[in-house]
Amino acid sequence: MTTKDYWKNIKKPIIGLAPMDGYSDSAFRRTCKFVNPDIITVTEFTSADGLHYSSEKLKRKLSFHENEQPVFAQIFGKDIETFISATKVCEDMGFTGIDINMGCPSKKVVKSEHGIALRKSPDLAYKLIETVANNTKLPVSVKTRLGWSDASDLIAFGKGAENAGANMLCIHARTYKEPYNVPAQWEHLYELKKHISIPLLGNGGIVSLQDGLDKLNNLDGFLIGQASFGNPWVFSLDDKPLSFIDRLPVILKHAEWLIESKGEQIGTREIRKHLLSYVKGFRGAKEYRSKITHVGCYEDIVSTLDLIKKEAS
Ligand SMILES: Cc1cc2nc3c(=O)[nH]c(=O)nc-3n(C[C@H](O)[C@H](O)[C@H](O)COP(=O)(O)O)c2cc1C
Repeated sequence: MTTKDYWKNIKKPIIGLAPMDGYSDSAFRRTCKFVNPDIITVTEFTSADGLHYSSEKLKRKLSFHENEQPVFAQIFGKDIETFISATKVCEDMGFTGIDINMGCPSKKVVKSEHGIALRKSPDLAYKLIETVANNTKLPVSVKTRLGWSDASDLIAFGKGAENAGANMLCIHARTYKEPYNVPAQWEHLYELKKHISIPLLGNGGIVSLQDGLDKLNNLDGFLIGQASFGNPWVFSLDDKPLSFIDRLPVILKHAEWLIESKGEQIGTREIRKHLLSYVKGFRGAKEYRSKITHVGCYEDIVSTLDLIKKEAS
């Protein structure tokens, strides 16, 4: 098996955690893998220019634990030269593959003609894919959306990306113009799959593993994004409802891994938003909201969760 065949040979359906800036960092990827070791994960999007010019800081941000494998580095940009050095950095770090972001809709990214803006310059998009594919032994995938304001060029883009050397595509079934909470339009993905021979993953609006399997149709797999917030158990094969006490060991592992990877100060600050999602819907959650938003060290996290555990049980 050549590594370029990775996506063709991996067991189907492929199930994974979607890349999400501010969420899918090493600690959360580990947490989701802890719940279901068979999922794949993708890093938060990382600037190719940044990796090229100041790689040490970004390399720290990109670093991963070996238990996360297979993990894919997602890079964005539009400059051929910086993509080549970013690819090399990711390859040297030991990632299983490179994922190119052609879907990010953020104003700053689009203004720089990165992310989804590349769908307006398909020749440059194909050139970037080709360059990355020719400069690495790793499999190269592309994550994008249906299109700018509709899906009219999705099939042409999919074929172009495959011809340029992409080994897998993941399509978020919404357009650039659509916010994250409108219904995703999966029918365009089923149609695209008939026109390409590389694996195609669907993404958008999946609320559970069963929901993903129900939407699978002719696709090779799916990524789950927002439904994983405060709920890594969305990847669990066992759908029995979990009490707060059942959840606690996983929540504490997440906190531990966040502190381990980012240090106590940053880790504690960043766990707050996750804790708010973890306790949502449980008795005591509202009362302890302000305590959660002020946790300052690991012991604070443990004692606050302990208080909620008493309320919730
Ligand atoms: C907070 C947030 C950050 C995101 N960051 C990224 C990113 O870094 N790279 C990327 O390709 N997509 C990113 N996305 C898009 C998700 O990967 C996914 O395509 C989108 O959330 C739709 O899936 P969902 O409906 O399951 O959440 C982000 C989405 C959210 C909500």
